[in-house]
Amino acid sequence: MLVALLPGDGIGPEIIAATMRVLEAAGVSGLTFEQAPVGGAAYKAKGHPLPPETLDLAKRADAILFGAVGDPNCDALDRHLRPEQAILGLRKELELFANLRPAKLFPELADASALRPEVATAIDLVIVRETNGDVYFGEKGHRKTADGLREGYDVMSYNEAEVARIARVGFETARARRGKLCSVDKANVLETSQLWRDVVIEVSADYPDIELSHMYVDNAAMQLVRNPGQFDVIVTGNLFGDILSDQASMCAGSIGMLPSATLNSANKGLFEPIHGSAPDIAGQDKANPLATVLSAAMMLRYSLGKPDDADRIEAAVAKALANGARSADLGGAMGTVAMGDAVIAAL
Ligand code: NAD
Ligand code: IPM
Ligand code: MN
Repeated sequence: MLVALLPGDGIGPEIIAATMRVLEAAGVSGLTFEQAPVGGAAYKAKGHPLPPETLDLAKRADAILFGAVGDPNCDALDRHLRPEQAILGLRKELELFANLRPAKLFPELADASALRPEVATAIDLVIVRETNGDVYFGEKGHRKTADGLREGYDVMSYNEAEVARIARVGFETARARRGKLCSVDKANVLETSQLWRDVVIEVSADYPDIELSHMYVDNAAMQLVRNPGQFDVIVTGNLFGDILSDQASMCAGSIGMLPSATLNSANKGLFEPIHGSAPDIAGQDKANPLATVLSAAMMLRYSLGKPDDADRIEAAVAKALANGARSADLGGAMGTVAMGDAVIAAL
């Protein structure tokens, strides 16, 4: 099986290197890796954040292991040339519409959560975030108002087919877990959200065994820190899911801990940590690689048919944490390489 390896920018190459060492130590068989530039690194090398060769590799591969993209030196480029367009382009081109972002607290990390330990220990949820639509992909641009003022705009929209397919992923995910689905929207204000809610209710007819609830996104942000244990699966749009997942990460210990899978309807996937390229700590051996290691485990489980290897790697991460492995984001002093070594030792 072919894995496209796309390290990207900032801490991307460091966290991917640590993850590759873990995969090697785990002795996962039958995988071939092919690496390609992506993001700012690809812009510098090839003049485009998602060069045709990189996109072609991603299409040919059975799965994509992705580091992160984003480079402050690229922030002044035309939008279509910015590093972030690479991840958006991959999601769109490969129809990777279902972004699963599990947030679970490893019990050993109760002290690292921003929440009180008794509140934090209850968190065990999955955010199912739509990643092919919403305000991310609507018409956008700049114009002048009638008064001559500069104005920026981004159109938010979802059609019923887009909502129905992500709703089904939400219901199926809940069915494989504790049977509770919370759909998060802003239907009290947005027409996009009213359609979202209507369609989720229609789809729920096929899932009478699932307990469906609806919550406005502002309340959901509050409830996530008040009592995260109330959630099993959250299904939501692209923008709300982006914001809520960063927030959930701090409930579960650190942004450096949360993995993700972004799947298409054939379960082909792109696997990446939910965090970005962290330019403030790049190249300093400070980044926590565990979100990426756990993303690789999700890749083995969801796209490569190797659930046993996934289990072994996740167990090794838990054991490394139990043995006291802590990077700076977890209140410790270990670097990226040492964190990788701790997982390898646990394996
Ligand atoms: P970020 O997630 O890169 O960093 C936010 C904060 O969290 C920083 O202080 C950073 O040091 C810390 N952090 C992130 N990952 C960490 C890790 N593994 N270990 C320890 N600390 C970690 O978000 P940002 O600063 O808003 O964005 C930086 C760049 O990354 C931007 O260009 C942004 O567009 C991009 N970005 C890319 C992705 C992606 O590739 N999927 C995701 C988010 C942001
Ligand atoms: C993420 C990131 C991306 C997003 C950016 C870099 C385009 O924040 O993967 O969470 O908003 O989806
Ligand atoms: Mn994000």
